[in-house]
Amino acid sequence: MEPSESKTPIALVTGGSAGLGIEIVLAMLGAGYDVAIVGRNQDRLQQASERIDIAVQSSGRRVKLVVGDVSDKDSADRMFADLQADWGRLDVLVNCVGLSDRGRVEDLTGARVNELIDANVLSALYCSQAALPMLRASGGVVVNIGSLSSKVGARYLGGYSLAKHALAGLSQQMRLEWREYGVHVALINPGPIQRPDAGVRYTSQGTNLPESARLPAGGAKLSGLPPERVAAAVLMCVQRRYPDLILPRHMRLMVAIGHAAPRIGDWLLLKFTSNRGSKD
Ligand SMILES: NC(=O)c1ccc[n+]([C@@H]2O[C@H](COP(=O)([O-])OP(=O)(O)OC[C@H]3O[C@@H](n4cnc5c(N)ncnc54)[C@H](OP(=O)(O)O)[C@@H]3O)[C@@H](O)[C@H]2O)c1
Repeated sequence: MEPSESKTPIALVTGGSAGLGIEIVLAMLGAGYDVAIVGRNQDRLQQASERIDIAVQSSGRRVKLVVGDVSDKDSADRMFADLQADWGRLDVLVNCVGLSDRGRVEDLTGARVNELIDANVLSALYCSQAALPMLRASGGVVVNIGSLSSKVGARYLGGYSLAKHALAGLSQQMRLEWREYGVHVALINPGPIQRPDAGVRYTSQGTNLPESARLPAGGAKLSGLPPERVAAAVLMCVQRRYPDLILPRHMRLMVAIGHAAPRIGDWLLLKFTSNRGSKD
């Protein structure tokens, strides 16, 4: 591929029309990137762009709204072909699309696992594959948005840990293989993130679960992270080529203990996810 003539760095954020994705878009604009935002729903993208417009006006950067389904390989391929044709380069891909879950393992179906893998893993795989030629040309970065559930398997999270662990494995393999292309791959593993619908998002799921399971992170005793803090961590991974980040920071110790001493890790995790207004 011919190197692009544009000097303005370009980022593409999947799932940039809601939640954490919007904050990542704002952080990338603030850092001087032109940003393409991907979502399936045009109206939702338009609504997000109204909030983002204010940042665009003050930064003078360009924003492109891209309607597409990143869990569909053809759709993902089309998006990146269009980006190549329109903007000619890509420096940062943030795979933020994801889907959480609630439920007991005995109730988890193959169909649900497939949905979760499509949303959390294949979305990142298809976009990263389609973006690779442009990222090789720019020496760019992929940031995958995992979760604490990429690192531990807490109770009642249905197939979420399964899918986010798969994303963690994929991210490390991509980082090691694509190093020789000059492409860096990072994984960010945030705990619960503050959002308006926290605590009511899973009311219809897993009716046989303790009440605490419907809380953010399945009731883990953690305060919600401000989304702009997670977005700043994305930028840090891009700028410093940081490989793997757990937020909040103090959870790194718990994850490390769990890997070194699984019995203690299980005990800590049970303590950490109990007694939030539940009978479990
Ligand atoms: N929320 C938390 O507390 C938390 C904690 C840790 C990690 N995370 C991770 O952070 C990421 C963002 O979570 P969030 O809760 O902020 O997300 P969210 O509010 O549910 O937003 C999801 C975004 O992804 C888009 N999207 C979903 N499926 C898509 C697809 N197949 N193709 C294209 N766009 C798609 C949605 O727009 P459309 O529906 O219009 O497509 C929307 O913009 C996820 O990976 C999640 O696992 C979240």
